[in-house]
Amino acid sequence: MSQNSGGNPYGHFDDENREYVVTRPDTPLPWLNYLGQDEFFGLCTNTAGGYTFWKDAKLRRLTRYRYNNVPYDLGGRYLYVNDGGSVWNPGWKPVKAKTDGYECRHGLGYSVISSVKDGLSVSQTMFVPPGENLELWKVTVKNSSSKPKEVKIYSYQEFCFYEALNDMTNYQRTWSIGEVEVEGGAIYHKTEYRERRNHYTLFGCTGPVTGFDTSRDAFVGIHEGLHEAKVPFAGKASNSKAFGWNPIGSHEVTLHLKPGEELTYAYVLAYVDHDLVGFQGEKFTAPFVINKAVGIDVMKKYSSVAAVDAAFERLRSYWNTNLGNFQVSSPDPHANRMANTWNQYQCMATFNMSRSASMYETGIGRGMGFRDSNQDLLGFVHMIPGRARERILDIAATQLSDGTCYHQYQPLTKKGNADVGGDFYDDHLWLVLSVCSYIKESGDTGILEAPCGYADKAYGAGLEKETLLHHLETSIAYTMAKRGPHGLPLIGHADWNDCLNLNCHSTEPNESFQTAGDVKDSKAESVMIAGLFLYAARELSDLYTFLGSKNDSQRIDTQRRTMLDILETVAWDGEWYTRAYDAEGKVIGSKSNDEGKIFIESQGWAVLGGAGADNGRARKAMESVHKHLYTKNGVVLQQPPYSTYNKAYGEVTSYPPGVKENAGIFSHNNTWIHLGWCLLGEGDRALEYYHSICPSTKESQIDTYRSEPYVYAQMTAGKDAPCFGEAKNSWLTGTAAWTFVVVSQGIFGIQPDFGGLRIDPCIPKAWPGFEVTRKFRGATYHIEVKNPNGVSKGVKTLSVDGKPIRGNVLPVMGKGEHRVEVILG
Ligand code: GLC
Ligand code: GLC
Repeated sequence: MSQNSGGNPYGHFDDENREYVVTRPDTPLPWLNYLGQDEFFGLCTNTAGGYTFWKDAKLRRLTRYRYNNVPYDLGGRYLYVNDGGSVWNPGWKPVKAKTDGYECRHGLGYSVISSVKDGLSVSQTMFVPPGENLELWKVTVKNSSSKPKEVKIYSYQEFCFYEALNDMTNYQRTWSIGEVEVEGGAIYHKTEYRERRNHYTLFGCTGPVTGFDTSRDAFVGIHEGLHEAKVPFAGKASNSKAFGWNPIGSHEVTLHLKPGEELTYAYVLAYVDHDLVGFQGEKFTAPFVINKAVGIDVMKKYSSVAAVDAAFERLRSYWNTNLGNFQVSSPDPHANRMANTWNQYQCMATFNMSRSASMYETGIGRGMGFRDSNQDLLGFVHMIPGRARERILDIAATQLSDGTCYHQYQPLTKKGNADVGGDFYDDHLWLVLSVCSYIKESGDTGILEAPCGYADKAYGAGLEKETLLHHLETSIAYTMAKRGPHGLPLIGHADWNDCLNLNCHSTEPNESFQTAGDVKDSKAESVMIAGLFLYAARELSDLYTFLGSKNDSQRIDTQRRTMLDILETVAWDGEWYTRAYDAEGKVIGSKSNDEGKIFIESQGWAVLGGAGADNGRARKAMESVHKHLYTKNGVVLQQPPYSTYNKAYGEVTSYPPGVKENAGIFSHNNTWIHLGWCLLGEGDRALEYYHSICPSTKESQIDTYRSEPYVYAQMTAGKDAPCFGEAKNSWLTGTAAWTFVVVSQGIFGIQPDFGGLRIDPCIPKAWPGFEVTRKFRGATYHIEVKNPNGVSKGVKTLSVDGKPIRGNVLPVMGKGEHRVEVILG
């Protein structure tokens, strides 16, 4: 049954249509979807809240959004319906009138919000067509009453002055710059077009427009809220022309509907950039009159409903193609729907957004993160390898020639953020993982020769650019060179755990935990980076082997061996691996500590890096995780939580016990443990742990969980918090990519490798088997896995198109369909 509510009173999955259906608007938190897939994006909640931007939520925000508003989510793609004086919104907000029916269908790249009241139904489908810099809303209005109706519909979008921070802080300027033009159903927001911009925002309507408003003060009022906006309640547009203050776009559409009559029309919100489209015409057609030629073409293109429908079909097939690269059918409905649809979909969002714009990230803080985006690629490479390639080269170009990296960069400029700087000593190693994962997927070893330079070297015409392979070598060399007194890698500002700030002894609340303080002479070391290094070095060594460079492979192996010996010598605590050494050389994450005795990250990375494999420590470390850190809602980051602020450890001790890095369940790092269980062949544990953080399993406890049940959240409150099980910061988290790795490569065992597709599942013993369709380097493999002996791991026989093959790696077969049979045992 596809419409299984799972005990959730707010909605249910519609697996066949790949939609999440919200059936009550008053969800425990706003439940978000993303519109857009390439460069034009929108955030859209289940009450139509959100905003739109082109490429960069900080520098090119097209519509306005006030974060942390009251209520939480206010402002968005609003339609006000005035049906004979009764005013309501199909998305419930902002008027919140009681309707006779409400539904929001969050689909892949689109949301459909529909409501019905007094025999009138209004449905609004919002999406961004692939490859275009515009958003479409298809609106269908139906009179299902027995009387004719005159209905007025008022759209509402508040324009943003592009640079979002300035827009929300610098009113002495911004309230004097707003400019608009109106022509028929088209509203042109042209603020700053006269000076340094060659772009404007077009908000057009193809319906029967009988009026408009472009001044917020006229439309809403000064002392009124959006829920009591003047114009829709008056039922009369004021045709206001904004001059300064706050320009908005609102069309009045008047519909005369006979009983049973239905009418469909559309809105288009477009980013028109003359430079981008190579427009050669005059900038102005008369003084103060902008050249609207491109905008007029956009309006023409979408003037027919058929064109809008065709664009929607393009979006549908875009997603069918993307998801078609991996589809599974297994005995577990959660794993199926997440792996087949939602998890992959979330991977697109994290690939595009990194940590920039969500309900919890304001789009003006963090742009793309070096470590984050490299990890995001792990769940994305199989979908559109070409885009992954481009991203890898962009990221690599923000590395500095000594091996460190800009920790963050802005997507529009692709320039590193100088305020945050670098010196997070795990950053560069993630590049090795993303590059190897890309090559394993695509076979494109040519990327290693791609010139991408370093951020601190001037490059341009005639100047040498270093290759990507050079960057990988620089990364490995950096970690080997920058080591502390125990021989472990130095930690710098922080490793993956941004809050373990061992070099910033801050007592000043006005400074950043991560960047204040002097890291130069500090000796603080990280066990986690050592584990990550083991993993990265093995990847690079395997890559060299594949390339036939035996010497290079051996050279890297020697370095790996050195690190492994050090880790086993100085980082084993008896029952688990320790976490770090602080600036004074004292251990962290040991039974000898009062708090923070055991951490998750070093267990995960030591095990994944291959430590403890021959001496039993890997299993012991994992069992310690189970004993001390595992809960039914996931694995907490460490135990016991820190109860007081300790400046020698930094931000990790700043959080109340049980949240964020202070013993919260940080889903991202849980996945490394899941992979650890897979490595040890513990399929039942792997699935149990996977379920513990899988949002689809949380429907039965949704009032506690609160976040969207269709995407992973960064964090769930741990057992030490009063709100154990409450999720926060959904959508933009490295969990998306890593859980896709867990489920597709760990549990189902479909592992792209340099020379082919390795099959190595790790499943619960009770599973009779499962099936996967995987597209890989041009071929389509229909893989049937059978488990007649009830094992978790181990491929006994494997055949392709009826022919047995040795080992468990499917050769690269080029185009065509292939049947693969796998027997475990
Ligand atoms: C956040 C950051 C990520 C970091 C993690 C743990 O998710 O985006 O870079 O690794 O927190 O602190
Ligand atoms: C805080 C958060 C951490 C995040 C970091 C980003 O430290 O706790 O999760 O990665 O901010 O700067």
